[in-house]
Amino acid sequence: MAMTETPLDVAAIKKDFPLLEVEVHGKRITYLDSAATSQKPEAVLDTLDRYYRTINANVHRGVYHIAEEATQAMEAARDKVRGFIGAESAHEVIFVRNATEAINLVAHSWGRTNLREGDVVVLTQLEHHANIVPWHLLAAERGIELRWVPVTPDGQLDLGILEPLLDGARLFAFTAMSNVTGALTPVRRLVDAAHAAGALALVDACQYVPHNPTDVQSMDADFVAFSAHKLCGPTGIGALWGRAELLEAMPPFLGGGEMIRDVRLDGFTPNELPWKFEAGTPAIAEAIGFGAAVDYLDRLGMVNVRRHEMALTDYALRTLGERFGERLTIHGPSDTAVRGGVLSLALADLHPHDVAQVLDQEGVCVRAGHHCAKPLMRVLGVSATARASLYVYNDEADVDTLADALDAALDFFAL
Ligand code: ALA
Repeated sequence: MAMTETPLDVAAIKKDFPLLEVEVHGKRITYLDSAATSQKPEAVLDTLDRYYRTINANVHRGVYHIAEEATQAMEAARDKVRGFIGAESAHEVIFVRNATEAINLVAHSWGRTNLREGDVVVLTQLEHHANIVPWHLLAAERGIELRWVPVTPDGQLDLGILEPLLDGARLFAFTAMSNVTGALTPVRRLVDAAHAAGALALVDACQYVPHNPTDVQSMDADFVAFSAHKLCGPTGIGALWGRAELLEAMPPFLGGGEMIRDVRLDGFTPNELPWKFEAGTPAIAEAIGFGAAVDYLDRLGMVNVRRHEMALTDYALRTLGERFGERLTIHGPSDTAVRGGVLSLALADLHPHDVAQVLDQEGVCVRAGHHCAKPLMRVLGVSATARASLYVYNDEADVDTLADALDAALDFFAL
C-alpha cells in the first residue's frame, strides 16, 4: 500500500486501461462515466484470464490441486477486500453480486427478522433506488414506516431535523456519497446519531469506497455495502461488510449449496460466516478479480486517489463555470471537501439525452437520465441530468475535452 502522499501519474495510469485506447466516431474515447462503472486495468484483466486458463475449478469442494488453488485465491481475495476497508475479520466480508444485493440481503434477512408493523426505517432523499426499493418492499410486506432526511438546494443532506426523524427508529440507511450530486455525507456523525437513537446504521458506500480511504471500524457502522465494478474490478461481485455478531444472528438470505453445514429431511444447519450468506457456486473469477482491483488501488494509495479527484473536481467546477457561466448548472456542493468527482450537468435548456448524444459524437462518454435516483431528481426539480464522473485515469485534458464537447452541443443546437 502506498503510505506516502504522491500525486497520481495519470499518464502512466491511462496506459494500464486498454479500453481508454478505443476509438469511437473516429475519436479516442474520453471516459467520464465511472460512477456507472469504472474501466478495468490490465492487472485485473490478466487475473481473470489467468484464473480461467490455469485454475478454473469450483471452490470449497474439490480436493484436487487446482480446486484448492481456486479456493485459496478466492479466500485470499476476501482477505484483500477486508484489508482495503479496514475490517477486523474476513468472516465479516460477504461476497454478493453488487451493492444492491448487499442492501437487499440486509432488508430480507435482518429486516424481516427484526422489523414489525410500525417500526421505523430512516432513509434520505439522496438515495439511489438500491437503498429505497428494498425498504419499500419491506414496508408493503411488514407495514414499516419510512422517514426521509431532506436535502438542501445544493444537494447535500439537510440535518436540521435528523434527531426527531431518528426518534424511535430501528435502522438508518444512508449513502456515503451521492451518485447524482457527488455530496459526501458525514458518515461518522450519522452513524453516531443512529446509535444514540438506538438504531442500527447501514451505509451505502458504493460511490464512496472506490474514491476514498475507507475504514469500516472508524465509520462504526453496522453494515457497509459496495460493488467491485466501480473500483476497477469485475461486474457481478461486491461486498457486504457487517458486524459479526449481527451477521451471526441473521438467518440466511438465499438457500442452496455452500451455505449449509448439514441438510436433513427435516431441516438444515447453516454454514458459518461468511459462507452462510453465499448460496450456490460463487462468482469465483470475479471475486479473485475484485482482489486484484483492490491491490491495484492499494498500489496507487487511496489517499492519493482522493487528493487527485479533489483537485480534478475543483478544476472542472472552476473551468466549466468560467467557460459556460449561467448556461451551465452543476448540481451539488461547490466545496470539494464535501463532494466527490460526480458532475451532474444541465446545459442551457437542452435535454440531457441530447447533450449526451452530441458528447458521444465527440467520443465523450457520460450518463444521461435519472441515475436511479428519481426521488432526488424530483427534489432537484429536474427529470434528468447529463452526468460526467471522474476517476483515477482522468486528467485536466479530459475535462477540457468535455468542455469542448459541451460547446459542440451548444453549436449543434444553435444556442
Ligand atoms: N448506480 C450507478 C450509477 O449511478 C449505475 O450510474
